[in-house]
Amino acid sequence: MNPAKSSSILNNEAPSHTGRDTLTVIDNRTGRQYELPITHDTIRALDLRQIKVEDSDFGMMSYDPAFTNTASCTSRITFIDGDKGILRYRGYSIEELSEKSTYLETAYLILHGELPSQTQLTEWTYHVTHHTFIHESIKKFLDGFHYDAHPMGMLISTVAALSTFYPDAKDIFNADSRRKQTYRLIGKMPTLAAFAYRHSLGMPFAYPDNDLSYTGNFLNMLFRTTELKYRPNPTLERALDVLFILHADHEQNCSSSAMRGVGSSHVDPYSATAAATAALYGPLHGGANEAVLRMLLEIGSVNNVPAYIKHVKAGEKKLMGFGHRVYKNYDPRAKIVKRIAYEVFDVMGRNPLIDIALECERIALEDEYFVTRKLYPNVDFYTGLIYQSMGFPVTMFPVLFAIPRTAGWVAQWEEMLLDQEQKIWRPRQVYLGHDVRSYIPLDRRS
Ligand code: CMC
Repeated sequence: MNPAKSSSILNNEAPSHTGRDTLTVIDNRTGRQYELPITHDTIRALDLRQIKVEDSDFGMMSYDPAFTNTASCTSRITFIDGDKGILRYRGYSIEELSEKSTYLETAYLILHGELPSQTQLTEWTYHVTHHTFIHESIKKFLDGFHYDAHPMGMLISTVAALSTFYPDAKDIFNADSRRKQTYRLIGKMPTLAAFAYRHSLGMPFAYPDNDLSYTGNFLNMLFRTTELKYRPNPTLERALDVLFILHADHEQNCSSSAMRGVGSSHVDPYSATAAATAALYGPLHGGANEAVLRMLLEIGSVNNVPAYIKHVKAGEKKLMGFGHRVYKNYDPRAKIVKRIAYEVFDVMGRNPLIDIALECERIALEDEYFVTRKLYPNVDFYTGLIYQSMGFPVTMFPVLFAIPRTAGWVAQWEEMLLDQEQKIWRPRQVYLGHDVRSYIPLDRRS
């Protein structure tokens, strides 16, 4: 990788295969040429550092605000082809998993890399189910929140608080400890979420029921009133389970990157999950489902859609639930979500906002503004309509994203921890501020 002598790639000849997996870079400031190894269509940013004008220079860096073209890790968990609209967990397509699997089985797959045997699934389900209870003191934290506190704020705080109950979680390089925290995180997130919801209603907390499925128990903790045994509606239970499968992981998105970045300081997984949940809360990420519903309510009727789209095209508003950093084609999750919406409407009645949503989609898919920018509905466009029909208040929508994403976060965190190439995350900057200057006393400042 020392500067080479000759240049062969700056002429306009048709490219020819040299058989070398390298990238030749010529620094026109010096005329020096460098040969950088290519692995998996990627060069290592650190290989740029040798490119200098003076020996005393720091060396070249790449500048990539928002990481639009920078891989921060290698991963074997989730594959996305954004142009083709493909999403796979550990090689299995999201379409097949949402048809044949359950959330807990998919979570196992994401975390362990393989589908479980019957014995493994039984054990996994047993352990997650037997870690759904939370310490009674957590209820005291929840009691301290205002009645109208956003449940995501309550979830972020209480999941962070779990770290104080489980100091063994600091033992992050111990596989047994990691396994235990994984059961706890996946088991307790629905309980924290449901308790936050019950607090906002001023209703007594409903404790977990270990006889029910993961999503059945979640519905029980949310909606049980006086019945001795809560029986979830099987269509709604399955719909929620499929939605959980669709949200279980999505490679290096903002919240997974937060999980990896915060986890790279070797903090415990509860603190890292609180950071990931906070990242998910934003309206550009998991908070988009809430924002979509608020937008549909603001539009109000099908007749108002063209006027709203006009505002969007003028750059005054966003069409929430549209667009994606990676998908430049229909989000494969959105297709499945749209189908589930009708299954839920068959049970709960048609959500009238669907007509506004369909009209937004129809206009957008034909409009030059959206077509040229490759803006398609994403997973959040239709989920809110389902959640609303199931009886959830809008503030709970991002929480319904956070619960299943916990499996992905923990898998990404563990992969990062065990990756020999990973270290504490510490990006560089291009400093454009003042050079050194002398302090001016207050009475001499203009
Ligand atoms: N409505 C109107 N215009 C849009 C939208 C939108 N929803 N999304 C992108 N654009 C425009 C954007 O203004 C830009 O236009 P121009 O080239 O004229 O400046 C162009 O499309 C490219 O957009 P970008 O902002 O550079 O794209 P990004 O990759 O940085 O952002 C995004 C991706 C998802 C944040 C963005 O599309 C967005 O804000 N969408 C609405 C929020 C949303 O639905 N988020 C959920 C994402 S899916 C769930 C998840 O995994 O988080």
